[in-house]
Amino acid sequence: MTKDTFLDNAGPNTRLAHIGYNPRDYHGFVNPPVVHASTVLFPDCSAMERREQKYTYGTRGTTTTDALCDALNELEGSAGTVLVPSGLAAISIPFLAYLSAGDHALIVDSVYEPCRHFCNTMLTRLGVEVEYYDPEIGAGIESLIRPNTKLVHTEAPGSNTMEMQDIRAISDAAHRHDCVVTMDNTWATPLYFRPLDFGADVSIHATTKYPSGHSDIVMGSVSANAKHWSALLAAHGAMGICGAPDDSYQILRGLRTMGVRLDHHQKSALAIAQWLESRDDVAKVLHPALPSFPGHEIWKRDFKGASGVFSFVLKVDEQAQFKARSHAFLDARKIFGLGYSWGGYESLAVPVNLTDRTIRKAPGEGPVIRLQIGLEDVADLKRDLEAGFAAAAAAK
Ligand SMILES: Cc1ncc(COP(=O)(O)O)c(C=O)c1O
Repeated sequence: MTKDTFLDNAGPNTRLAHIGYNPRDYHGFVNPPVVHASTVLFPDCSAMERREQKYTYGTRGTTTTDALCDALNELEGSAGTVLVPSGLAAISIPFLAYLSAGDHALIVDSVYEPCRHFCNTMLTRLGVEVEYYDPEIGAGIESLIRPNTKLVHTEAPGSNTMEMQDIRAISDAAHRHDCVVTMDNTWATPLYFRPLDFGADVSIHATTKYPSGHSDIVMGSVSANAKHWSALLAAHGAMGICGAPDDSYQILRGLRTMGVRLDHHQKSALAIAQWLESRDDVAKVLHPALPSFPGHEIWKRDFKGASGVFSFVLKVDEQAQFKARSHAFLDARKIFGLGYSWGGYESLAVPVNLTDRTIRKAPGEGPVIRLQIGLEDVADLKRDLEAGFAAAAAAK
């Protein structure tokens, strides 16, 4: 049995520790070398003309970027992966790969907001018609598909409000009309959900989040099935938007420990979500692993776990108090940081702005606060949140 065959049948943490690079390929060093490159030399003109060597130029990949792409292909079950400089580029590049002027794209209404901005500005300017749909539409997506619909974009759970999507039902409907289905799979990571196994064609990641795990890298990846890989690779090559070798090295390094980190994030986040749910000053908790959450059954059926990001609605009597109460809650923090992004080792909390939504509007009971539960001890995080609740109750 070769190492690769052994790994095919291994558990997730064993796979994470060994995929993507074989130390025997580089003198036994456990980690791959970081290859910095623009120029790659050819032995002669004939080799150059035929491009008959694996590496040809820095933008087209190096052994370091390939190690990460190979690891991500293993995890996603994809035919190919491209690396890009941010999670946002991991959304915009496939859209540019698969859409042309005159096409229609269906985008989930609970999408990561900068994706909406890209769609409403650049995609629209390039002549693509964009329509937002209800995240819980399921097979009903078929009624929105037009002759010119070419792409259906999904994200589950949805950003900030965490709506679940039936990816299998959406993909089956979309494929009956030959649409490509893309999924932003950043929250679950391929450890907890594999979009291609549920019919999606393309899996998108902000590797900035859990794969990095330390809030110090911005990077994205796009993994496609065999049918949609060549168009993705062509667009990536045409645009010259590539992942850097140092960042690739760091993301591969992060993947090695992602399983154990996620396990910790999952347990702590669920403990805090349950604790929040029991409080009178919380109107509701938006976490797919809670049985009370509307999308829970889909999560339980399709996902293998939950990561550390979820939201809750602070209970507030009058709309006029939403902002003051949420700011008082957040400004009382000592451990939770106030800042964007998530997936790092440290906890974060942010006020959620849902004014961009066209279908799934903000809840009426109070302001939405998103938490990223880091690797700190749960008792300390609860203590920090307690102080927030006390400050919110005292706010005018
Ligand atoms: C769901 C989701 N997708 C994509 C991104 C974009 O990632 P990046 O910050 O690397 O551009 C984010 C960032 O917060 C995100 O939450």
